[in-house]
Amino acid sequence: MKNKFAKRLSTGGSSEADEIIALIMKLTEMPEVISFAGGLPDGELFPVEEMKSITHKILSEDGNNALQYSGTQGLKELRQSIAEQIMKDAGVEATADNIMITCGSQQGLEFSGRIFLDEGDVVICESPSYVGAITAFQPYGPKFVEVKMDQDGMIMEELEEALKNNPNTKFIYTVPDFQNPTGITMTVERRKRLVELARKYDVLILEDNPYGNLIFEGERLPAIKSFDTDDRVIYHGTFSKIFCPGLRIGWLCTTKEFLDQYLVVKQSVDLQTNTMAQKETALYMKMFDLKANVNKIIDVYRRRKDLMLKTMKEEFPENCSFTHPKGGLFLWVTLPEDKDSSEVLKKAMEMRVGFVPGIAFYPNGNHRNNFRLNFSSMKDEQIVEGIKRLGKVLKSL
Ligand SMILES: Cc1ncc(COP(=O)(O)O)c(C=O)c1O
Repeated sequence: MKNKFAKRLSTGGSSEADEIIALIMKLTEMPEVISFAGGLPDGELFPVEEMKSITHKILSEDGNNALQYSGTQGLKELRQSIAEQIMKDAGVEATADNIMITCGSQQGLEFSGRIFLDEGDVVICESPSYVGAITAFQPYGPKFVEVKMDQDGMIMEELEEALKNNPNTKFIYTVPDFQNPTGITMTVERRKRLVELARKYDVLILEDNPYGNLIFEGERLPAIKSFDTDDRVIYHGTFSKIFCPGLRIGWLCTTKEFLDQYLVVKQSVDLQTNTMAQKETALYMKMFDLKANVNKIIDVYRRRKDLMLKTMKEEFPENCSFTHPKGGLFLWVTLPEDKDSSEVLKKAMEMRVGFVPGIAFYPNGNHRNNFRLNFSSMKDEQIVEGIKRLGKVLKSL
């Protein structure tokens, strides 16, 4: 039978990455596996009791509106709270008019690919980068140019080289805070330099920042967007890691000129984000202290990260190195050059423990000796047991 599917479904990308994503989803549903694979927050930290009272209040006081269609840009009260509470904390001056609500930040990323990318355009990203952004941009046929990172984030000299060599770059995609997958944070100096370079070479920056508030050590760094003086940074935010991912509430923060394009796309995709979920999020921010909720989450994740690192130091062979994130959900393990983490995963799965091989996070492939570990979703005993099993597998190889 001739191929019925559109060509864009096979525009590049490693099918291995697709297989890995399918595997992650499978792993998260297998209770007997100790999975460090997904990026799931711990569900026990969700404010279920508060949400019960909020939902009841909304339905009893405003039920007809809560269950009705609503505007494409999103509820004004929610956009206002995001601008005044979250964007302000990140050093960004914004009003409700600069915010559009999306169905998770994942939808914002897909829209960005759709709005800005023509086939053959260049996307510059960190090496490694967030797999969900790579798969969101891929159908639009860009060429990915990866820029190396060190412990301070993307290396700016390498970024400038990439910009010089690729005049058809459309945007730089970056996760500056506690990056997925490495846990690395970009320094303030580099954020400023990044904006300077984007201006010099006249490209956009897509700042994707789900983890900036999950801080274990130090202060919240100013968003890249806070250094944006000529409206070239499009900020992608989300409540998924600081509140409830199942509500699927994310947002974009940018100028009216850009938002108008996003609005046209959103109208054709889903008209609007779930009205009830928007009302619930807005009322939560009004009635409760979102920062207190974030602090509760941080205390648990910090402890789990410390426990994971301590156990890794005891159980992993000495030729493995790993990052020491100061926030977020992930850390990144590097094996000796000749090792393949997909092979490690096969053995680890036999011992009922899972993680994500690094290959998934490199849009151009070619790197096999890394893997990502999530420390937020497993309990303390599972972390210790899972890392011990993984240590055994690594030693055996
Ligand atoms: C870097 C990054 N961006 C975007 C997302 C998507 O998040 P959501 O669609 O739940 O807001 C994730 C999820 O893990 C992520 O790690």
